[in-house]
Amino acid sequence: MSFLFHVRLKMQNSNLVQSITQQFAVTYQYTTYFTERVFGLDNPLLARCVESNWLPAKCLFVLDSGVAQARQSLLEEIERYAEAYKQQIAYKGTLVIPGGEVAKNDTGLFKQVLEAIHLKGICRHSYLIGIGGGAVLDMVGFAAAIAHRGIRHIRIPTTVLSQNDSGVGVKNSFNLFGKKNFLGTFQPPTAVINDFCFLETLSQRDWIAGIAEAIKVALIKEKTFFEEIERNADQLVKRNQQAMQAIIYRCAELHMQHIAQGGDPFERGSARPLDFGHWAAHKLESMSHYRLRHGEAVAIGMAIDCLYAHYQGFLAKPTVQRIFNLIQRLSLPLRAPEVFFKDAQGTYQVLKGIEEFREHLGGQLTITLINDIGKSFNVHEICLKTMQDSIYNLEKMEFNDPAADFLQISENSWQ
Ligand SMILES: NC(=O)c1ccc[n+]([C@@H]2O[C@H](COP(=O)([O-])OP(=O)(O)OC[C@H]3O[C@@H](n4cnc5c(N)ncnc54)[C@H](O)[C@@H]3O)[C@@H](O)[C@H]2O)c1
Ligand SMILES: [Zn+2]
Repeated sequence: MSFLFHVRLKMQNSNLVQSITQQFAVTYQYTTYFTERVFGLDNPLLARCVESNWLPAKCLFVLDSGVAQARQSLLEEIERYAEAYKQQIAYKGTLVIPGGEVAKNDTGLFKQVLEAIHLKGICRHSYLIGIGGGAVLDMVGFAAAIAHRGIRHIRIPTTVLSQNDSGVGVKNSFNLFGKKNFLGTFQPPTAVINDFCFLETLSQRDWIAGIAEAIKVALIKEKTFFEEIERNADQLVKRNQQAMQAIIYRCAELHMQHIAQGGDPFERGSARPLDFGHWAAHKLESMSHYRLRHGEAVAIGMAIDCLYAHYQGFLAKPTVQRIFNLIQRLSLPLRAPEVFFKDAQGTYQVLKGIEEFREHLGGQLTITLINDIGKSFNVHEICLKTMQDSIYNLEKMEFNDPAADFLQISENSWQ
């Protein structure tokens, strides 16, 4: 529904200003499905997600090369599936693109996806179906959002991180000018299909990295979820599928609830609770030239912000120890060499991430911290001295000695 207001305002200086104001609301709805063997011929889910006035709808697939390599039969499986469901799916081919952050960095690859959309005649009633990790999905989602001003888009996330976090949300992105996620839009997908079978071929590193986002959501939203991760930490490390599926489901649910009920789905304000630990994480990812996985960088970013919250008097020491303990049990990192890189003035370079974060959000600097497990709050300024101390102490801590009181703030501080 739309309203038009024709207003004539008489200004003080008696100049007449005319204006037309309009207001309308657009409702979004999409579902994240949890399934197995999405391309099994007996699984009609994907075909059912393809809805159009003109069936069969044209479908172009974009596939992460990491997934294609790990499952060599996949291209054939997609083709056979499309053939079996040809009443819904008019198959327009599968473009394989390199997986990982390169997909978000390389404008040539981005152009390749747009070109395929162009050459295959993909229109606003067609579907671009991305299959891959968070990086490929971010880039494919961005292409879908801008080609023809928005093509229908289905995500099939294949990593823990994309199934529990990045794939189920409303954002897409592309890196530019050395800045992470410099381009991007808020564009909800048509549907998300989490197929747990894809996780079987993940490297141990990527299996673990995605758990960092679950810890993040638990820390800002739900203590019982944090306790569930603690209880299952050993099973998770041992790749227990059931334990991981439960974590992914709850994390995705909390994430989606936040988007729908948090009051700011398209992040117009400056607060971004889901970005706990992310000001440092994004900076560390680019400083490491993406050697660090996003999830690993988030684990380190949370460690820095937990220490900071502790030294600022918000977070109790045993709570910080408990959080650090879980991160370590999961073999996620608490630090990396890049955290301690300094500029010519002796300042930790990672601190530039605070200003970049402010610039990215716009408006007032807003950083989410926690004062207990499951309880978050926002601060609008960061005490740089305490932050430097936090990073200094992170470097000096003895993590290998369980008896060490590694949280004692050092008197000599970072200088
Ligand atoms: N849009 C958002 O809201 C949002 C939120 C969080 C993170 N992200 C983004 O997500 C990206 C990180 O995603 P990620 O952690 O999934 O890593 P990733 O996409 O970089 O993938 C990691 C590696 O795993 C490979 N891979 C993917 N699926 C596989 C499978 N099933 N088997 C074997 N190998 C597989 C990929 O080829 C790649 O080499 C970052 O760019 C981050 O910025 C976006
Ligand atoms: Zn993240």
